[in-house]
Amino acid sequence: MAAIKSILTETRVFPPAEAFVKQANVSGMAAYEALCRQAETDYEGFWADRARQHITWKTPFTHVLDDSNAPFYKWFDDGELNVSWNCLDRHLAARGDRVALIFEADDGSVTKVTYTELHARVCQFANGLKSIGVEKGDRVIIYMPMSIEAVVAMQACARIGAIHSVVFGGFSAKSLFERITDAQAKVVVTADESLRGGKAVPLKRAVDESLTMGDTSSVERVIVYRRSGGAVNWGARDLWWHELTQTQAETCEPVWVSAEHPLFILYTSGSTGKPKGVQHSSGGFLLGAALSMHWVFDAKPDSDVFWCTADVGWVTGHTYVAYGPLALGMTEVIFEGIPTFPHAGRFWEVIAKHGVTTFYTAPTAIRSLIKLGADLPAQHDLSSLRLLGSVGEPINPEAWMWYQQTVGGGRCPVVDTWWQTETGAHMIAPLPGAVPTKPGSCTLPLPGIMADVTDEHGGPVAKGHGGYLVIKRPFPFQLRTLWGDPERFKKTYFPQELGGATYLAGDSAHRDEDGYFWIMGRVDDVLNVSGHRLGTMEIESALVSNLRVAEAAVVGRPHDIKGEAVVAYVVLKGTRPVGAEAKQVAAELREWVAREIGPIARPDEIRFGDNLPKTRSGKIMRRLLRAIAKGEEIAQDVSTLENPAILDQLKEAVK
Ligand code: WTA
Repeated sequence: MAAIKSILTETRVFPPAEAFVKQANVSGMAAYEALCRQAETDYEGFWADRARQHITWKTPFTHVLDDSNAPFYKWFDDGELNVSWNCLDRHLAARGDRVALIFEADDGSVTKVTYTELHARVCQFANGLKSIGVEKGDRVIIYMPMSIEAVVAMQACARIGAIHSVVFGGFSAKSLFERITDAQAKVVVTADESLRGGKAVPLKRAVDESLTMGDTSSVERVIVYRRSGGAVNWGARDLWWHELTQTQAETCEPVWVSAEHPLFILYTSGSTGKPKGVQHSSGGFLLGAALSMHWVFDAKPDSDVFWCTADVGWVTGHTYVAYGPLALGMTEVIFEGIPTFPHAGRFWEVIAKHGVTTFYTAPTAIRSLIKLGADLPAQHDLSSLRLLGSVGEPINPEAWMWYQQTVGGGRCPVVDTWWQTETGAHMIAPLPGAVPTKPGSCTLPLPGIMADVTDEHGGPVAKGHGGYLVIKRPFPFQLRTLWGDPERFKKTYFPQELGGATYLAGDSAHRDEDGYFWIMGRVDDVLNVSGHRLGTMEIESALVSNLRVAEAAVVGRPHDIKGEAVVAYVVLKGTRPVGAEAKQVAAELREWVAREIGPIARPDEIRFGDNLPKTRSGKIMRRLLRAIAKGEEIAQDVSTLENPAILDQLKEAVK
């Protein structure tokens, strides 16, 4: 891979506007460089300063980094804090009346909650959890729609030291079951239904189903928030949210925990079929959330209205909906709906309606909105905007330019933020008042983040050449381990090939002559579909669990809107279907995958073969399948294939 020479020739550079630089939290390149130098000369002192500045500690830490059991690093571990107290209580005296959450419902109705009110609701729910026996360290699964209540549930867990694991509401009952059992959850918090784009999705029904799929005896109670009023089945362990909370006190003494106490587990896709339970700490994670709000979003808590469109089921919704904005005492928008309902201008309408200053979304959303109406933003007053952010996948320069010009009116810096579930917060992103931007590049690492591009042995690669994206020193907000699987944690992220102490991100990247990073994509078997991580193995396991299917291989193919599309090659147990039969089986299998994992994993295309191309040792030739999916000429020597004729079969997509 190190031989891949960059073909990008992007040369446009956008220095931050004078007016932005003047008011920026980090103002000018010299200030950015000074921070980087401080981190280089006194790494631990640098992080200790940041941790003192951005977190209010109950018991100050005296240890900074403990690397005695690398790569199981600890940060600030004798310090004590409570994340919920940092997000709520510490703002009450000075800004209790400030609006914390502006909830924009699917149907356009609005609910505002001040810090004082949010604090009361979090305390009531925390007391409710305690009343049913939830204690420090217990796992709570949250399977909720985007709502005030989802944030309340997460914050309430943090308040009592319970470990939440949010499962995206678009995941299937089966995916939910796997996460409930892996985490050995004591409580599941859900809603009757979620409402998105005018459609109701029965969440409670999926929970009911998941609890019948195997041994889920760890689950003692299911708490149900009434969102839609839709019909639900009721059992002995079910409890209504409103009944649980109505008699609870509006104050709740936080449980003070060590900085290393786990704050949450969030499952994400990896190279194998089993999702990984990424475990984050309390102190380090909170520092990453607060610091990146301050640095990358240039947060101004007194005047900003922040809007991150991500669902709380993904890491972006953890760091930049549930924790980061609240840690700074900001006002943020929480959006229940979808970008295209009831019309394709919904995002722009919401920005104008609430005076959003800082808007954070994904390239896939930007691309689809360009397609649906490149001129729609002009129909709304977007003058409140001052900063735009992008996350989840590489943003193509044309989409970046449109975002900057048409949405941002040419006046707002665009921060393209590279990071991962595992890193907890932004890693490589411009500090908008300092670092000039280039469309399509996430620019330079945050001060203190020692990012680099290396070959497979950790050696240097020449400028402009592709390699592995790595982080050379531990940082406070990185994952601590994989829940219940420390060996996999070590092998996946700190491989021996790189010396065992370098963090391997799983992405390929190259750096240009200015040292800017350009992310090229995943190097493992993980797809990025509409900014969502999906393991090819997960989709393959789902396919072969269908009785008709003998074998399956899944690859990605570039897609204009989604970034990547899912292409599945399938061998059936009977004969290879053709014509109308192929069409019908393909439709069935697509639905099957949607039901097994969730609609986001539904294959875009299914192709049937009599068998799959394999090497002599029986390994599926994925590179070949990727080339076929893209419609490329096959350069590879295929003479060793058992049956070269199947390549022609596989070229044929079911229409
Ligand atoms: C990709 C989402 C290019 C990358 C926060 C990474 C990006 C994976 C960017 C993590 C970006 C995320 N430019 N690629 N700005 N941001 N990625 O865990 O492949 O859902 O490894 O975290 O998304 O996805 P995850």
